[in-house]
Amino acid sequence: MKNRHIFAIAAAIAAGPICGLGAPGFTHAAMAAEPPTSFQEDVLPVFQVRCVSCHSQNGEGFKASGLDLTTYQGVLAGTKFGPMVIPGDPDSSNLMRLLDWRVPPQLRMPHNKKQLSVCDRNSIRTWIRQGAKNN
Ligand code: HEC
Repeated sequence: MKNRHIFAIAAAIAAGPICGLGAPGFTHAAMAAEPPTSFQEDVLPVFQVRCVSCHSQNGEGFKASGLDLTTYQGVLAGTKFGPMVIPGDPDSSNLMRLLDWRVPPQLRMPHNKKQLSVCDRNSIRTWIRQGAKNN
């Protein structure tokens, strides 16, 4: 029935933006079964493109902070001062503060570069909220 389709599309628009491939854009509480966000497929590719030039061995970000974003273990270990990700709690995770630019300009990440898209940040946020699993 035609009306149903229109209704479904309207509901999808109301629920939030539909992001790129594999990025679950729905954060609406009414979505009963939220698709899991994958570290390997949704989160790590963003770090590889936008962060690891500085956050891998010999990179300036790694040298300054000790944060290695090339592996799950590195992401969870955080910096030499402590964890950047608090599983289940994206709002208190320093990683999200830096990526959402809720910090002074000199601390924002990626350093002196364009901010990550809302879709990429929401993927990382959802992954943290879902427990920051090695999935
Ligand atoms: C151009 C180089 C560069 C890029 C690209 C970069 N960083 Fe950084 N990052 C740094 C430097 C330098 C530091 C240490 C100084 C500082 O905290 O500002 C740092 C520090 C950090 C810290 C620790 C901050 C703290 O409070 O100790 C986090 C977390 C971080 N980066 C995350 C990221 C993420 C996530 C990305 C990719 C979206 C990224 N960075 C991309 C250079 C970079």
